[in-house]
Amino acid sequence: MIIGIITILAVIAQIIGLATGTATASQRLRAQWREWCSRSDSQLASQVVAADRSRPFSPAWSGWRSLRVIDTHMVSADCKTFVFADPDGTPMPSFVPGQFLMVGRVDEPGTAPVAARCYSLSDAPSPTHLQITVKRIEGGQVSAWLHDTISAGDSVQVRAPGGRFVLDIERTDLVVGIAAGVGITPMTSMAKYVTKMQPGRSVIVFLSARDAAHCPMVDELRALERSCPFFTLVVLQSRPEPGDHFDLKGRLSIDIISRVVGEPIGSYYLCGPPEFMTSLSDALIQWGVPKDSVSFESFGGPKPHTAVIEGEASAPIPVEFRRSGKKAAFSPADGNLLDAAEKAGVQMDADCRAGACGTCLKKLIQGKVQYDQAPSFGPIADDECLPCVAKPSEATILDA
Ligand code: FES
Repeated sequence: MIIGIITILAVIAQIIGLATGTATASQRLRAQWREWCSRSDSQLASQVVAADRSRPFSPAWSGWRSLRVIDTHMVSADCKTFVFADPDGTPMPSFVPGQFLMVGRVDEPGTAPVAARCYSLSDAPSPTHLQITVKRIEGGQVSAWLHDTISAGDSVQVRAPGGRFVLDIERTDLVVGIAAGVGITPMTSMAKYVTKMQPGRSVIVFLSARDAAHCPMVDELRALERSCPFFTLVVLQSRPEPGDHFDLKGRLSIDIISRVVGEPIGSYYLCGPPEFMTSLSDALIQWGVPKDSVSFESFGGPKPHTAVIEGEASAPIPVEFRRSGKKAAFSPADGNLLDAAEKAGVQMDADCRAGACGTCLKKLIQGKVQYDQAPSFGPIADDECLPCVAKPSEATILDA
C-alpha cells in the first residue's frame, strides 16, 4: 500500500507540475511512515471503538433527547464543531459513519423545538460523545442559533443518529470521499472510522473549497494523514489567498479524481451542493465506477439526479399534487417525488431529504410508490409516503 501512496503523491506532484511539490510530497510520505512505524499495535487497539453492526439503521432512541454540550470550537471561518454527551454519563450509542443528527432549536426552556435541521456526524463513533460540525448560514434557523447562542454547558435537543448515506463497513476495498466545503464532515467520520476499525483499508478524501479559511476540519485530517499511511487527503482551492496551503489549485474534476485514484475501483461517497454532485456522480459512472458504488448526500438544495444509464429509461409516470393543483410527468432522471414536486413549483417542507425525519410525509391519495432503500423514518402507512426518497411506480396522486 505504501507504493500506492507514493503513486498518489507522485500523481499530485505531476498535476501540480512543480519540483517543490514533489519534494514536499516525498518529505510528507517519509514522515508519515516513520511515525506509523513508531506506533505500537496496542496504542492503535486502544483507540478502536466498535460500531454496532447488527443494528446499523435502527434509531438508538425515539423522539427528542436532551444532551449536554461539552465543547465547541471553530474549524474554519464559518464552521463550528459541537460535541455532545449525556448529562448523566450514559454512554453514547454507536452509529454508522455518514449518518447525521437532527438538532432542534428550542426558544423557551421546557418547550418543544420550533425548528430542526440535520447535521452529519463528524467524528468516529465513541461512547464518550457525539459530534457534529455546522456551517453558519446567515439567517439559518438552526445553524445561526447554534453558532451564536450555544456553548459548552448548554443543553440541546437531538434525535438519534439516522440516515442512509453510510459507509459500507462490510467492504474492505478503497474508500474515496469527495467533498465540497462542509461536505467534508461525513468524510471525516468515515476516514476516522476506517483508520481505527479497518487498518489497512485505503482512504482517499478530496476536499474542494474556495480558500484555506473555508477548508473545514483540514487540520485534524492532516493530523490523521500524518498518523496513518493508508489515508490521503487531497485539498483543492479554487481561489486561494496568498500563503494558503493546498495540494492543487482549481476545481475538482473527474480528470483529477481519475488521475489520483488510477482505476474506477472502490466505493465513492460524495457530499456537497447538488450541482457539485450531479456533475461528479455522473462523471464517475461514465468513467466506469459501478452505479451501486457511488453514494451521495446533498446539502443546500435538492439531491442530485443519478445518471440515467442507457436502457434504463422508462415511460414518464403521471403525478398529481392535488392540494396545489400541479401535475408532473415523473421520469427516472427526476430522482424522487420531492425533486419532481419542487421542479413543478410545489412547496413542500423537507429537512433531512433522506427519509429519516418524517418532515415531508404526505398522504398518498392514489397510486403506489417505491423506495430504493427502506426509509429509516417509520412506520409509514400504506396510504402515506416520504416524497424525499420515494419514486412512483404507477400513476400517483399526492395530498401536496
Ligand atoms: S425530508 Fe426528512 S423524511 Fe423526507
